[in-house]
Amino acid sequence: MKKLLVAILSLSALLVGVAQAELNNPGGIGGVESLRGASELEDTRPADDFKKYPRDQVIESDYVYQPPLIPHQIRGYEVSLNANKCLACHSWKNAKEMGATKVSVTHYQNREDAVLADVSPRRYFCLQCHVPQADAKPLIQNDFKRVDSLRTE
Ligand code: HEC
Ligand code: HEC
Repeated sequence: MKKLLVAILSLSALLVGVAQAELNNPGGIGGVESLRGASELEDTRPADDFKKYPRDQVIESDYVYQPPLIPHQIRGYEVSLNANKCLACHSWKNAKEMGATKVSVTHYQNREDAVLADVSPRRYFCLQCHVPQADAKPLIQNDFKRVDSLRTE
């Protein structure tokens, strides 16, 4: 019995030793690189420059039924449980006065296609689908082509 206890104790001491060795050697990126680049764990990567958002709708749609890109700045626009800045301009109630496009009726439909009196919860978080237009490099190269009906060349 005593021997067994000693064996268990020394085994756990060994394991703690291994764990400590790893903790003491945190260098490198641990083999983890993200699509946004690689940086050492201890370093904070400098932030990218802000993207430029052109004011006119310059980037055209790539497929039918694509959520239109946002042709304006959205910095500081709160979309949370308490407030939805986007709807302050884009809701049916406010759009006319704000000179903004009103959200289409699909934004009032629920999963069963019933039209609700207010924006559907599944369309509440606008930025899940709409992004500001920017000339951003794709994170992964791809050979995606526009659907035929929208192709100009
Ligand atoms: C201060 C008012 C205002 C706010 C707030 C606002 N927008 Fe807009 N938005 C506009 C106006 C005005 C346009 C029409 C184009 C233009 O003049 O820039 C527009 C255009 C758009 C379009 C393009 C519509 C189309 O038919 O192509 C989308 C998408 C859009 N906004 C999404 C959003 C989202 C998402 C938010 C919140 C993050 C938001 N907007 C907040 C005023 C606003
Ligand atoms: C689940 C994805 C999704 C979410 C979330 C969403 N939209 Fe859309 N939106 C779309 C799609 C798809 C279209 C184009 C087809 C359509 O009108 O349904 C669109 C169209 C629009 C248009 C153009 C309407 C028109 O008549 O041309 C505006 C403006 C807009 N959305 C604003 C918003 C705002 C503001 C929010 C947040 C309150 C929002 N969207 C949330 C998918 C979404």
